Amino acid sequence: MSTSGTLIPPITLKQKILEPILFPPASVNKEKLYRKIQDETILITGASFGIGEELACLLAPSGAQLVLVARTKEKLERVAETVRSLGGKAHVFALDLCDEMSVRVFLEDLRHAGLQPHIFVNNAGKSIRRSVFKSLDRHHDFTRTMQLNYFAPVQIMLDLIPVMAQRGQIINISSLAVALLPAPGWAAYLASKAAFDQWLRSVSPELESKNINSSSLYFPLVRTRMIEPTRSYRNIPAMSPENAARWIANAILHEGKRYYPWWSWILIVSGNILRPVWEAILSFQMKRKPFR
Ligand SMILES: NC(=O)c1ccc[n+]([C@@H]2O[C@H](COP(=O)([O-])OP(=O)(O)OC[C@H]3O[C@@H](n4cnc5c(N)ncnc54)[C@H](OP(=O)(O)O)[C@@H]3O)[C@@H](O)[C@H]2O)c1
Repeated sequence: MSTSGTLIPPITLKQKILEPILFPPASVNKEKLYRKIQDETILITGASFGIGEELACLLAPSGAQLVLVARTKEKLERVAETVRSLGGKAHVFALDLCDEMSVRVFLEDLRHAGLQPHIFVNNAGKSIRRSVFKSLDRHHDFTRTMQLNYFAPVQIMLDLIPVMAQRGQIINISSLAVALLPAPGWAAYLASKAAFDQWLRSVSPELESKNINSSSLYFPLVRTRMIEPTRSYRNIPAMSPENAARWIANAILHEGKRYYPWWSWILIVSGNILRPVWEAILSFQMKRKPFR
């Protein structure tokens, strides 16, 4: 359903065989889903490309009010047109979520437009893969990932909590890597994703007492433009953004707390038990073949 035209390389035979096993296509009870959300206002950040775009298209036939946020206005408008053509209502807000003032203005505009989201899909995200030795003059890598992946959703949540009181849902698009052993090169990204993950886990018991539920989705690799710059990812199995959108739809419908790929427990358990072994392998690997 993507309207992007982003250049994503064709998938290899290995990917074709492994992907349905590793990421079986999720099925969604659309009738139930659409009945549940038809009168809702749903805020989706990062709705211009990738997972957010697919989600907007999947939710569109429900007729819910979709508040679409990202920086690329023309692209957001195109997604909004698709949503409307599928029977949905779309409202476009083009802004840079890294800019605290823009977020404040957006939240005020939302109020003035009479839009009160009871469902917030925190999806906008930025990833950076860079060796710490190549980051020595790049403090901004760490501030901008924290700004987008941590401070922006916290700012939005602080504003929405009173709106959501007694009935709300927050869906956090996290990364499986947050639950695994830290990986070299991903310090800026993983620290910022982990920060919001921890924030949400910390406030969840309080929020639940006011009927605001949260779900965290720990996605593996998803084939979007986000993984494009990492050449080594081109040939390894990845989930499709359509499937990722169906996972989110199921989280909206069933309100489970955590969603992981079925095989992730093997990595999580072995990571905990064999931590010293993994760490020794990683540091040996870094000495043998330094991160480039
Ligand atoms: N792809 C993966 O392998 C993977 C794996 C695990 C988790 N995730 C998570 O999935 C989420 C969606 O990523 P994706 O794979 O769909 O990547 P994507 O295709 O690059 O989409 C990212 C979205 O975030 C928006 N965005 C980026 N910077 C922004 C900013 N400063 N202000 C406002 N919006 C901004 C982008 O729109 P504009 O550029 O128009 O602003 C775009 O709509 C992210 O949170 C990511 O961390 C992805």
